[in-house]
Amino acid sequence: MIDIRRFGFILLLLATALVSPFAQGEAQPRSTHFPPSDHADDICLTWSDNPCTTQTVQWRTAPSVTEGFVQCRKSDAPESAAVVVAAESVTLEDAPVTNAPVIRHFTARITGLTPGTAYLYRVGEKGSNMWTAWLPFTTAPQGRAPFSFVFFADVQNGMDTWGNMIQQMRERNPKAAFCLTGGDFVNHGNDRNDWDELFHFGEGVFDHFDIFPTIGNHECKDGPGPKLYLNLFALPENGPENVAKERAYSFRYGNALFVVLDGNTPPAEQRDWLEKQLSGTDATWKFALFHQPAYSSDPGRDNEEVREHWCTLFDKYHVDMVFQGHDHAYLRTYPMKAEKIVSSAAEGTYYVVADAGTKYYKQDQHDYTAVGFTNVSTYQVINIDTDGGDRLSYRAYDAEGTVRDKVLIDKPVK
Ligand SMILES: [Fe+2]
Ligand SMILES: [Fe+2]
Repeated sequence: MIDIRRFGFILLLLATALVSPFAQGEAQPRSTHFPPSDHADDICLTWSDNPCTTQTVQWRTAPSVTEGFVQCRKSDAPESAAVVVAAESVTLEDAPVTNAPVIRHFTARITGLTPGTAYLYRVGEKGSNMWTAWLPFTTAPQGRAPFSFVFFADVQNGMDTWGNMIQQMRERNPKAAFCLTGGDFVNHGNDRNDWDELFHFGEGVFDHFDIFPTIGNHECKDGPGPKLYLNLFALPENGPENVAKERAYSFRYGNALFVVLDGNTPPAEQRDWLEKQLSGTDATWKFALFHQPAYSSDPGRDNEEVREHWCTLFDKYHVDMVFQGHDHAYLRTYPMKAEKIVSSAAEGTYYVVADAGTKYYKQDQHDYTAVGFTNVSTYQVINIDTDGGDRLSYRAYDAEGTVRDKVLIDKPVK
């Protein structure tokens, strides 16, 4: 006997396959709520070279705009003193975005700047004399000086809600030097409309603070690696030789070293390079940033390889704090060394997992959990002070600006 219901279901599947215009595996059409225009938008500051003397500026337009320029001047100089730097551009195509499949993406690299100096910049077209408003950036200080930076992770879902929180962050911390972002910026890393949305809600932040991102697993989704991520962010090309450029990198800011690792590439392949970065620095503060955490908040996740290949080096060279994402909850460990809790920051490393988006996972109380909670989006502000001794003040804030966690680390001056 033929099962009529089963037969009907098979017929339905066959009919769907015949009438569907999309072959199996072919991307479904999408649209963007934020298409490009003839005017520059989605402006993003990054540092692909020395933060003391350079500034990288990126933006997009419709593909019909073929030339782009950035003007730059010291904040106390007249407009007539601005230097003009030509940008390189590439077209980025995401064919399934029906209403705007192609954008032109510009990258301008300003060099020869003075350390620790406030500048203004604007982007646009020299020929038509169409420019954006003047926007600020400040070069990094040379050597030991106070500064602050921001860390957030997993924007990924609920970008309008994240946008409100991050605009408040900017209002409360206008002088922060840069933002570290812990991966999963978007949900579908190779869907350009996701990035259009991110940059739209990040306007006022990405064009105001330099962004130092790291790759999450979602940046690699639905495509041949993190193609859009690598095109959208110009980053230092000083990573491991055996890893594709810009997937891992390091930079120095003031008296601090930042090492950004790629959690999607086997940790063992980045170990030698990581050791070189940590052993070759005289920085007072050392930080690491990567996506998949060494000490998970999620009950069902673990990253033993990260602890084996990276945390052993964080122990050996005393990394102060590690910033991570991926687990969609907030967790800050006690100071850890050799996978054990130690009694002070002088002996061990704090590991932070944070979530800035609106997707939340539950978490268990682990023995390493000093502070843990979920269903709360946060951003973290880290102040580095040099008055007297060296002091690090870490605070995690929720969307209302309430402090949800804090840590102080003091070090005697070297
Ligand atoms: Fe993730
Ligand atoms: Fe995520």
